[in-house]
Amino acid sequence: MKVLETVLDLNRYLAPYHRAGKSIGLVPTMGSLHAGHLSLVATARADNDIVVMSIFVNPTQFAPGEDFEAYPRDLERDTELAAEAGVDAIFAPLTAELYPPGFSTFIDVVGVETSGMCAASRPGHFRGVTTVVDILLNLVRPARAYFGQKDAQQLAVIRRMASDLALVPEIVGCPIVREPDGLALSSRNAYLSPPERSAAPVLYQALRVARDAIESGQRSRDKIITMVEHHITAEPLAKLEYVEARNAAGQEAPSILTGEILLAVAARFGTSRLIDNIIVEIEET
Ligand code: PAF
Repeated sequence: MKVLETVLDLNRYLAPYHRAGKSIGLVPTMGSLHAGHLSLVATARADNDIVVMSIFVNPTQFAPGEDFEAYPRDLERDTELAAEAGVDAIFAPLTAELYPPGFSTFIDVVGVETSGMCAASRPGHFRGVTTVVDILLNLVRPARAYFGQKDAQQLAVIRRMASDLALVPEIVGCPIVREPDGLALSSRNAYLSPPERSAAPVLYQALRVARDAIESGQRSRDKIITMVEHHITAEPLAKLEYVEARNAAGQEAPSILTGEILLAVAARFGTSRLIDNIIVEIEET
């Protein structure tokens, strides 16, 4: 497996594959790899001739005061895990490779996708994500790029950008990978103290309570949201940020739930901000 640190090396590495018409799968990450990332690699591996993983802690998606400096970084460990998972090349550039002096162009999705939820508490976050993802797509020119469903709003924003800008790569969403107790895998789980780690599965438990209620016939959006809020706020270590129910188009779900519904939550446990979601399919009656 190659580790490429410059755009020049990346171009040199990719040129023969592009010339030969090979399909490239791109797995963009910020490193600190866990089984969720490796599941993206497995899917990319199955779909493409070669798999490139980018590892880049992207400064433009962190607001001032967020955890950019503290974000866990361990390229050596990530390199081993990526190689074992079957990645062909890692692209791990320095900041100046992607944002050279004078850089001043950003991509800003301004639709329902960037309203509310994480956009409300992380100003500029999605603008940083779409900008870096577009740069990576332009550099790698993959056939497909892979993103986790855990970051449901990020996935929706990236799909919107790809559709609006007629980007060539297919955007592939992959299922959430969970710990045995239900906690969604996240690099930020590493910050949790033991008591916070024990408390954190409350997010998924709350989502499952809501799903069970919907499956038992509850159709009121407000009652479902209140149910999830009560479940999470009953956990003293959880500081709830939001509970949202959205329809497949990313708008607020109708007051009587129907169709495909995304239930999404965010909460802080100590210094860690965790998010989770489930999709519930409600059959028309
Ligand atoms: O999901 C992430 O890890 C990041 O937001 C991404 C997509 C790699 C862009 O920096």
